[in-house]
Amino acid sequence: MARSIAPHAFQLHYFPAAYTKAAMGLPRARRPSMQIMNPDIKVRRQFASDNYAGICPEAWEALAAANRSHARSYGDDPWTEQASDRIRDLFETQCEVFFVFNGTAANSLALASLCHSYHSILCHDIAHVETDECGAPEFFSNGTKVLLVPGPDGKLELAALERMVRRRSDIHYPKPKVVSITQATELGTVYSVDELRAIGDRARALGLRVHMDGARFTNAVAELGVAPKTISWQAGIDVLCLGGTKNGMPLGEAVVFFNPEMAAEFDYRCKQAGQLASKMRFLAAPWIGMLENGAWLRHAGHANRMAARLHEKIRALPGLQVLFPRQANSVFVQLPPAAIESMHARGWLFYTFIGQGGCRFMCSWDTTEQDVDDFAADLAQSLAPGALPSGDRLTG
Ligand SMILES: Cc1ncc(COP(=O)(O)O)c(C=O)c1O
Repeated sequence: MARSIAPHAFQLHYFPAAYTKAAMGLPRARRPSMQIMNPDIKVRRQFASDNYAGICPEAWEALAAANRSHARSYGDDPWTEQASDRIRDLFETQCEVFFVFNGTAANSLALASLCHSYHSILCHDIAHVETDECGAPEFFSNGTKVLLVPGPDGKLELAALERMVRRRSDIHYPKPKVVSITQATELGTVYSVDELRAIGDRARALGLRVHMDGARFTNAVAELGVAPKTISWQAGIDVLCLGGTKNGMPLGEAVVFFNPEMAAEFDYRCKQAGQLASKMRFLAAPWIGMLENGAWLRHAGHANRMAARLHEKIRALPGLQVLFPRQANSVFVQLPPAAIESMHARGWLFYTFIGQGGCRFMCSWDTTEQDVDDFAADLAQSLAPGALPSGDRLTG
């Protein structure tokens, strides 16, 4: 028999009310019900975030395999060692690897390890470290200033980066020390190999260290079809925050130092920030499952292909405007407000506040072709002539 779900259970177990309301722009009572606590009810796969997806089978099985008997704690276990080795194999170099719970911690702690409090970090003005980490990079680096650099499609513009660095050189200016880039970007675009090399070279010339927010690094690798080393250390990246969660893991990111000197005492930094898991094997084991048979690349490639399919199906719909090139696992579009309302009323969830606005449709490792087709069909209906009040149609 179907059980009903208590409102607080939905709120606690799925996503915090404040975040959800902001994301969906809906009053609580009108949010589409997901009833995830009831195992009898099929939950629809959504296009809101790759964080909505569950755990992929490879990560799940590796987790179960680690759930045997006892093991040493705080990372002194065989799974942590093996996962670190797999990451070294993946990047074909002797990097230093640390596992933390989430991307905010990975970015903030990595950035903090690259600079002193009187330095500055340069990043794109819509970078996650600037807009979505609640000031954690500044907090963990004891006040290091973040300086914002513009650029089209979520990518740093090289000339603007250089201008920001050279703007001042006196003692009153926060000394530029790190450039942070996001691959794939917050807008679903991907830096090419040449673009990355150019940033890496210019950063060296300007005396900057290079951090990469790789929450969707795997999607970028899948899109570019290159070896992971080509768009990381070979392009001049010093530290990569390699995302696991959005790739199909339950949680966890790996902080990968290609320059081992910069990893000095990073373990203490993790411990102080509450990021040293006592049962570390459960943070580490899913990486083994993801890396041993190429699941990381399969899942990322699949998510990208689903986004490409979605883009193909919706890009010519009248009244819809695609905002950025589709290069990873998301499609950003501008929609009339009534079409957004209509999609919500049909039960679809998606964000409208990421990056520079617009609607973000994001695919995951488990998005199916049928999901894409259903979503696209509903979108076509929501935009169909007559479905919207005429004032809501886009011109241009
Ligand atoms: C570009 C980017 N970086 C990092 C993160 C990781 O953030 P979190 O702290 O939520 O794991 C995200 C998650 O949305 C992201 O989109």
